[in-house]
Amino acid sequence: MKKYLVIGNPLEHSLSPKVHNFWFKQNKINAIYNKETLEDADLENFIKMIRDKKIEGANITVPFKEKIIKFIDILSDEAKDANSVNTVYMSGNNIMGHNTDIAGFYLSLKPETINFKDKNILILGAGGVTPSIILGLRMIGVKKIIVSNRTKDKVLKLKERFSFIEILNWGETVKANAIINTTSVGLKKTDKIQLNSSLFTPDTFFYDVIYNPKETNFLKKAKNEGCMVQNGLMMFINQAAVAFKTWHNIMPKIDKNLIEFLQND
Ligand code: ATR
Repeated sequence: MKKYLVIGNPLEHSLSPKVHNFWFKQNKINAIYNKETLEDADLENFIKMIRDKKIEGANITVPFKEKIIKFIDILSDEAKDANSVNTVYMSGNNIMGHNTDIAGFYLSLKPETINFKDKNILILGAGGVTPSIILGLRMIGVKKIIVSNRTKDKVLKLKERFSFIEILNWGETVKANAIINTTSVGLKKTDKIQLNSSLFTPDTFFYDVIYNPKETNFLKKAKNEGCMVQNGLMMFINQAAVAFKTWHNIMPKIDKNLIEFLQND
């Protein structure tokens, strides 16, 4: 039986085993997907297990998406551009590192929310997932990407890599068609992001990459103001689907059954 894994730290809340095992069953693939909490010092040995074919493939999550790169032989263009690897496997004699968060993000966008093309988008945060969101937005042809982060240094670093982004000072306001939270604020139910309340206009679309809890205070406030909102569940499912396609060459089904199954966790 083929073995797959997600590695990260902490990992209790990861839905990756649930979604991949669901698709294994649905597609009659004889494999099992588990999770393993690792430390930095375990990464080298973990890659060796993939090289030795003890593990067929793995997803990498926080805080290892960048740290794993030095152990990878070949990076996909997406992984290189984002400097972030979330999907690992062997191809011939090489360890391959791919990024499916970029595709996961843009595939999660639905026409009934807003059409992102030619729109102005504000991103909150400049952490590990932010480059994937920037690249995803770039691929779908948005007009302007504005990034605001509490620590200015980090957003200046991002601008060195993505010169096309604009910077907004933390706490300041700008008119945007969509506001995307990529900070970690909201992971705890009591977390409240400090934002200028004039950002919450009813014609703005609010997106949070967090999917657990289902509704962060950021989305709750936006919803109360009458704005359209979306959490990170569809991004999560789509990044998993693209990883599944990478490993098994099958694009798995994303339907109501699956979404309900994952939501009832
Ligand atoms: P890392 O920065 O190590 O990549 P991350 O979880 O990917 O970690 O990113 C955390 C993001 O959430 C950062 O943008 C962080 O802002 P800082 O760069 O200022 O730390 C943001 N963040 C975390 N706590 C925050 C808070 N209380 N208010 C605003 N932003 C916060």
